[in-house]
Amino acid sequence: MSKRRVLVTTGGGDCPGLNAVIRAVVKRFSLEPDWEVLGSMEAFNGLLRDPMEVVTLDEAAVSGIHTRGGTIIKTTNKGGPFAWPVRNPDGTWYTVDRVEDFKQRLEQLGVEAIISIGGEGSMDIAHQLGKRGVNVVGVPKTIDNDLSATDVTFGFQTAVEIATEAVDRLVTTASSHSRLMILEVMGRHAGWIALHSAIAGGADVCLIPEIPYDLEQVAYKINRQMKTEGFAIVVIAEGAKAKDGHSVSKKSDEVGYANVLYGGVGHQLAQELKPHVTMDSRVMILGHLQRGGTPAAYDRVLSTEFGVKAAELVLEGQFGMMASFQNNEITAVPIEEAISEYNFVKEDTQQVRTARGVGICLGDRNFGPQVKWDTAEKMANATAKG
Ligand code: F6P
Repeated sequence: MSKRRVLVTTGGGDCPGLNAVIRAVVKRFSLEPDWEVLGSMEAFNGLLRDPMEVVTLDEAAVSGIHTRGGTIIKTTNKGGPFAWPVRNPDGTWYTVDRVEDFKQRLEQLGVEAIISIGGEGSMDIAHQLGKRGVNVVGVPKTIDNDLSATDVTFGFQTAVEIATEAVDRLVTTASSHSRLMILEVMGRHAGWIALHSAIAGGADVCLIPEIPYDLEQVAYKINRQMKTEGFAIVVIAEGAKAKDGHSVSKKSDEVGYANVLYGGVGHQLAQELKPHVTMDSRVMILGHLQRGGTPAAYDRVLSTEFGVKAAELVLEGQFGMMASFQNNEITAVPIEEAISEYNFVKEDTQQVRTARGVGICLGDRNFGPQVKWDTAEKMANATAKG
């Protein structure tokens, strides 16, 4: 007798812990004699390709993969059933809706449900598929931790570890050269990685998208730090922006890539600060290092918990739900809730209070005295008096 089938997809930017989720889903279903697990290569796209790129995921296929970064079934943030790219004869592209074709292919394979492991974009597709009659369960992934309805996403802790190690390493070189070091970390909408690594690494300034920064406050803190410690460390999220300013981003020319590309705000800050600080600076953009490599133990555990929970949601027929971690419990929430808004850092967030409590400048009015200046000399004087 043929077995019941569930299809796993990994979508959006990759993230440490994806393989651990896949493994947990497969292991949980291997306890159910009637079920087997398939994987669609490159998110939903594998199912839509001709020939289909769909693989069987059995225990042998997932053995030992929980320690490996990336995803064995690959990922993408392009294409999918709602925006399948088609090339015009003149080389330009347009997109088509292939949801009906997608559903037929699921039926042809005997797939009863999909477990979609992804961030905001993938959860949005999952939600839309649900509305078109596909049984979907979600698992929240993103190093940025910007998905709502879960206290944390898997991959975030690993990214924080990597960013913190970067801060630690920059401290010794900053100190040796009496420099300002600016570390740019990921976080297009939300500054969770910046905030956590700034606290863990003991940075002096932390700039995040949610708090537009006041250059005067930042320069004041840096100059004061130079006086007392002889060097300074800034952690800045890629989506940060100055008060009345814009974030540093550009449209991608990659076909079908819907997001804008971030990267470079650290260099912009260094330029802005140059006339106002008394030390030399260097900029380090950590970039995709934060997404690569082996997941931290915390993320392996969380990914495994999410994988088991997602499998159980399918077995219980709880579709349209996403595995979630809330108040120390693994639970389930409607996918719709997770995509209703970004999980922004808020003023009353514990880590904001903590950062302020240890004197980290968040770039806004709440740090130190309101200073007015126009030259580095004035700043140094203000600093000496302060
Ligand atoms: O979603 C996480 C994230 O790491 C963002 O912080 C970053 O801007 C983006 O992905 C980059 O994604 P990619 O280079 O894969 O398009």
